[in-house]
This record gives sequence, structure tokens and C-alpha cells, in this order.
Amino acid sequence: MNIKQAKTDHPILTLLAERWSPYGFEDRPVSETDLRSLFEAARWAASSYNEQPWNYLVATRENLPEFERLISCLVEANQAWAKTAPVLVLGVVSLQFAKNKKDNRAAVHDLGLAAGNLSVEATVRGLSVHQMIGILPDKAREVYGIPEHCEAWTAMAIGYKADPATLPDSLRERDVTPRQRKPLNKFVFTGQWGKASSLTLTKDN
Ligand SMILES: Cc1cc2nc3c(=O)[nH]c(=O)nc-3n(C[C@H](O)[C@H](O)[C@H](O)COP(=O)(O)O)c2cc1C
Repeated sequence: MNIKQAKTDHPILTLLAERWSPYGFEDRPVSETDLRSLFEAARWAASSYNEQPWNYLVATRENLPEFERLISCLVEANQAWAKTAPVLVLGVVSLQFAKNKKDNRAAVHDLGLAAGNLSVEATVRGLSVHQMIGILPDKAREVYGIPEHCEAWTAMAIGYKADPATLPDSLRERDVTPRQRKPLNKFVFTGQWGKASSLTLTKDN
């Protein structure tokens, strides 16, 4: 079994168990057909009032000047590994409803849901997505002319994950460490905050 495959306590879609966030990417481009489908998957995410508050700025390593503009909007620690990915995407969220300019409290939630859809579509296509909160929103505003009511919130590195054996030590270690999660009883409650729901106390056979 793949070291990164989730060791689930209950059955889930294989697709979800197999998704993980690599630090090392193969030097292999992603087709435009695949990229269009990734954004199409994001497009069909649910959103509050169907506002679709997500926007994306995308750069591929085939266009190096554009790629470098996008990478300049990441924090240094993320630049260090994300520069090997063939595709970088900046997720920009519109924080106001288009129709009445009121605050959209669900906007960031909806950007995350769209990222979830995109990640699932990527996994089906043999691609990997590594999301990042470590970005420079003010720099992104300046570089891309992002309007006032919008904010760059997250980024994604997208590509084919590398064979860890080919990676430098610093990246390899992270890409061979098994994935960990809290058990259900630590976050699924009934009746009172912190009280594990009884449905989390039994294991499926
Ligand atoms: C919204 C979001 C922001 C993240 N930000 C970063 C980041 O800035 N840098 C980084 O190296 N990983 C980042 N990650 C990756 C997480 O660390 C990773 O998803 C988590 O450790 C679980 O690992 P897995 O995705 O392989 O299951 C982020 C993930 C998400 C969903």
C-alpha cells in the first residue's frame, strides 16, 4: 500500500484516501485539457446564494515570466518547493455579494469548497494539488491589480507528484511521512461541545 494512502477508520472513497499534498513534483507539464477540467470542477462547487466568489490567477512554467510573477506572491518557505510545480494558481475571493455589496461571510468557505472539487478532479486525473495559505496578499494585489472587494487568499501548486527517491533530503522526508488525522471522537460531538458523539465510539467491521 502507498505510504501516503489514508489508513481510514471507516470506509471512504478510494479517491479521497489517495489524495495527499506533495512537496515534490515531476518536471512534466499539465495539459490544458486537464487544467480546464480542474477549473470546471471548481466551477460546479456549491456556494452561498450561488455567488461563486472564487477567482483564479493561473501560471504555468511554460510561460516563465508569468510563473515568476505568481511565485513572487508566495511566502519564501512555499516558494522553495512550489517552484518545481508545473502549474501555480492563486485563489482570489470576492468578499462582497455582487448584487448588494453586503459582506459574504461564506466566501472563504466557498473558495475552500471549490478547491476541494478541484482537488478531487485532479486526483482522478493522476494529478496532485498542494494548497497554500502562505501567500502575500498585498503583493498579489499590486502584481495583478486585484480590486478592493477581493483578496488573494490561498494558492495551489498543481502537477504530477515526483518519486520521493528523486527528491533532495529536505523534501523527501515530508513526502514519505505517513498522513495523520485526529480520530472522529475528537471533532464529532453530540449534546455538548467536546462530548464525543456516540456514533464515533464504534468501529465498522
Ligand atoms: C487551506 C490550506 C492551506 C495550506 N497552506 C499550506 C502552506 O502554506 N504551506 C504548506 O507547505 N502546506 C500548506 N497546506 C498543506 C497542508 O499542510 C496539508 O494539506 C496537511 O498537512 C495535510 O496533508 P495532506 O494534504 O497530504 O493530507 C495547506 C493546506 C490547506 C488546505
